[in-house]
Amino acid sequence: MSVAILKMGVVLSTMAMITNWMSQTLPSLVGLNATRLSITTGGTADRSTGLLPANPEESWQVYSSAQDTEGRCVCTVVAPQQTMCSRDARTKQLRQLLEKVQNMTQSIEVLDQRTQRDLQYVERMEVQLRGLETKFKQVEDNHKQNIARQYKAIKAKMEELRPLIPVLEEYKADAKLVLQFKEELQNLTSVLNELQEEIGAYDYEELQNRLSNLEERLRACMQKLACGKLTGISDPITIKTSGSRFGSWMTDPVAPEDDTRVWYMDGYHNNRFVREYKSLYDFMNSENFTSHRLPHPWSGTGQVVYNGSIYFNKFQSHTIIKFDFKTSVISKSRQLDYAGYNNMYHYSWGGHSDIDLMVDEGGLWAVYATNQNAGNIVISKLNPNTLQIIKSWTTNHPKRSAGEAFMICGTLYVTNGYSGGTKVYYAFSTNSSTYEYIDIPFQNKYSHISMLDYNPKDRALYAWNNGHQVLYNVTLFHVIRSEQES
Ligand SMILES: *[C@@H]1O[C@H](CO)[C@@H](O)[C@H](O)[C@H]1NC(C)=O
Ligand SMILES: *[C@@H]1O[C@H](CO)[C@@H](O)[C@H](O)[C@H]1NC(C)=O
Ligand SMILES: *[C@@H]1O[C@H](CO)[C@@H](O)[C@H](O)[C@H]1NC(C)=O
Ligand SMILES: *[C@@H]1O[C@H](CO)[C@@H](O)[C@H](O)[C@H]1NC(C)=O
Ligand SMILES: *[C@@H]1O[C@H](CO)[C@@H](O)[C@H](O)[C@H]1NC(C)=O
Ligand SMILES: *[C@@H]1O[C@H](CO)[C@@H](O)[C@H](O)[C@H]1NC(C)=O
Ligand SMILES: *[C@@H]1O[C@H](CO)[C@@H](O)[C@H](O)[C@H]1NC(C)=O
Repeated sequence: MSVAILKMGVVLSTMAMITNWMSQTLPSLVGLNATRLSITTGGTADRSTGLLPANPEESWQVYSSAQDTEGRCVCTVVAPQQTMCSRDARTKQLRQLLEKVQNMTQSIEVLDQRTQRDLQYVERMEVQLRGLETKFKQVEDNHKQNIARQYKAIKAKMEELRPLIPVLEEYKADAKLVLQFKEELQNLTSVLNELQEEIGAYDYEELQNRLSNLEERLRACMQKLACGKLTGISDPITIKTSGSRFGSWMTDPVAPEDDTRVWYMDGYHNNRFVREYKSLYDFMNSENFTSHRLPHPWSGTGQVVYNGSIYFNKFQSHTIIKFDFKTSVISKSRQLDYAGYNNMYHYSWGGHSDIDLMVDEGGLWAVYATNQNAGNIVISKLNPNTLQIIKSWTTNHPKRSAGEAFMICGTLYVTNGYSGGTKVYYAFSTNSSTYEYIDIPFQNKYSHISMLDYNPKDRALYAWNNGHQVLYNVTLFHVIRSEQES
């Protein structure tokens, strides 16, 4: 994860705290009201603040409570609904964020001037007061009997002024707070400046590009933050009825916002033609597509389209090929060492489904089995550019008795079969290298599932169900924390 995203996180959580502070305290400071401040510093009280406009359907919302028991800042992010993910809304929000910071900066200026002025006044008063006290003592010592009358008057005045002393102390404390706050704001400003530098030019196009880039990274960040455990699978929606009993279809999880292409591969062997539909709408409503001829036929239904390339298992081999659609060339090809192929370790439905490639929030994965692991599932994280294995995990689940498998947030979920009543019943976490048995049923509407893969962009499962292309939504349970490694 890049530093900028973390910075964004810092900005958001700092913003939440500061806006909260502002809304509670600033009015009394800047509005010409001499009432004393009432700030609880470093309190553990829950300070929940909606950062951005409060329509939950349109906005990112960051709720922050000051601290958890270990002193970390806990932050909850409510993401906008997918369907409301419009670019304009996001742009508006960033503008509002910047405007808010500008407003804050103005307020701080006023506050600062005011505090400086008050402080000078207070300091002058303090000097006067203490001077008075000294004078009074001198007077008392030197002219004891002499000026009893003046003495009384002075003493009365003194008594009148005495309650001011604690007020002076308070003012000083407040000034310290303001100083602290200024420092915080300077921090924030420098972070924002860096961000602004990144956003760069005033050129609208450029700004737009940078914005959508930031958006994307923010979304990626949120997705990562919002990672969780699978707890439910919705009823399926049939998108299209097309093709043979076996096949695969998908969208690219890291494609830019305006790239909504659907990729479609019919059959598990003897085919090398990938169909490209312009959009889900086109996919549903027409047979308008572009055909891409791969240099080799594929094996199984484990292909995945990721960042403009298709990754697939070359037929009758354990070779993985990365084929770039834009240039129509093989940009990388590598053997997946020890991986069984040619129906040695297929999923229970067969079909040369030995090697299953997939993408989740963390990147590209290969799921297969080896002799070394006794035919049980092996999970490998792959470098999408070199196809080299970054790390592997061995599970205790026989590949041949798995219906299908998909990856969400670094956890592999395995289904019990391809026909009849289906459920997800085994989960292996690569994070902790532990497994557990679970029970998450889902509807197998057309009775034969030959492909099931998660798409982290849509948070949906794509399935090929007996010549029907269907989608399921997933429910993930998550607890979100800021200031973690991610
Ligand atoms: C100043 O503070 C007092 C006491 O808290 C409040 O009653 C009054 O409305 C405030 N005045 C302004 C102008 O905010
Ligand atoms: C900034 O201040 C202006 C003028 O006081 C106000 O109209 C605007 O709503 C403020 N913007 C935000 C984001 O608070
Ligand atoms: C300002 O940022 C620095 C480094 O990021 C941090 O150590 C410091 O605590 C921050 N100060 C405040 C007041 O947030
Ligand atoms: C197919 O694509 C062409 C060119 O993009 C378009 O003119 C035509 O309307 C499309 N047909 C359907 C049925 O969508
Ligand atoms: C996608 O590919 C481009 C270059 O083709 C690269 O700059 C970018 O980092 C890649 N994105 C991901 C998520 O791998
Ligand atoms: C990985 O596991 C640790 C310990 O169980 C947990 O604190 C952390 O949040 C997990 N990370 C992810 C990304 O699930
Ligand atoms: C998934 O949820 C979105 C947003 O609520 C909804 O528009 C979509 O139809 C759902 N898809 C499925 C397969 O239920």
